[in-house]
Amino acid sequence: MRRVGTVIVALATALPALADDWGMGDANRKIAQTNVFTTVATPGDEVYTLAMFVLAITGVIFVTVGALLAYGVVRFRARPGDDGREPPQVYGSNPIEFAWTTVPIIIAFVLILTTARTIYTVQAAPRPPGAIAVRVVGHQWWWEFQYPDLDIVTANELHVPVSDPLRPTPTFLDLESADVAHSFWVPRLAGKTDLIPNKKNTMWFDPREPGTYLGQCAEYCGTEHALMLLRVVVQPRAEWERWVAAQQRPAAQDVAAARGRAVFETTACINCHAVRGTVATGRFGPDLTHLMSRATLGAGVALNTPEHLKIWVNNPAVMKPGARMPAMNLADSDLDDLVAYMTTLR
Ligand code: CUA
Repeated sequence: MRRVGTVIVALATALPALADDWGMGDANRKIAQTNVFTTVATPGDEVYTLAMFVLAITGVIFVTVGALLAYGVVRFRARPGDDGREPPQVYGSNPIEFAWTTVPIIIAFVLILTTARTIYTVQAAPRPPGAIAVRVVGHQWWWEFQYPDLDIVTANELHVPVSDPLRPTPTFLDLESADVAHSFWVPRLAGKTDLIPNKKNTMWFDPREPGTYLGQCAEYCGTEHALMLLRVVVQPRAEWERWVAAQQRPAAQDVAAARGRAVFETTACINCHAVRGTVATGRFGPDLTHLMSRATLGAGVALNTPEHLKIWVNNPAVMKPGARMPAMNLADSDLDDLVAYMTTLR
């Protein structure tokens, strides 16, 4: 079954891109795919096992009913020479009625119990002392990731350590929304959990294998719902700790980019974006302190390259129609300086 899933995903992703995908098609093909058949964390495994169990039971029902139906259709079909009379009409058989009432009740009850057990295993899991805490805020149309214990704020690319089953360090997410309902879904790690305005939901995962796992908002949330992607980067512990240390550093101050920084700090950029240690403290858009440490732009719409960054800053709607960020309409030289400054934010 896992192989079938892999083949389906491979076929789907081998289709040619219909529009300019700004390098994302190839990039997403290279990383671990959104394959629900190859889970790498406990909640995902639980959901996979339950899904296979439900599929097996409903598969047996489907085959049994289908076989009986086919048998009835073929065996009792109209034949030449039939006398045209109605077949014998049979009413009221207590044993048969008893069987077709109790068997479905038992089946439904088994499905309810196994589902409840899976929900309990996932939702009641204790939070071990080594757990990583992340606050996830859904925005139209991007993801904000805050690490309250580590003083880190980033966007769209969540970095977490591998969780060793012997000494688990799962990641626990508090999910909230700044506007409408969204849904956090990384198929290889866990099931979906909604981000609801004025409510805090929680979920967790304990990834066993390093890798980059693709996710997608799974609740229609407006025009760019389909381009509200995310990545979970699962790293070996030491590598993740280096990432944390780098994210905790203040923004780079490259004197060569002073002109671009001046452009940034005197335009509307700073109303929506924060760069730690500068006058930019906006919170409507992603924190840009370590912008260039991220592989993608605009919640997974484009590879994060200086060329794409320039297109994005000039007019985000070229890449993501409906994006909340306005076109900045800067003079060419200002735009070049600004992008030069942004590429120093490593
Ligand atoms: Cu956010 Cu769909």
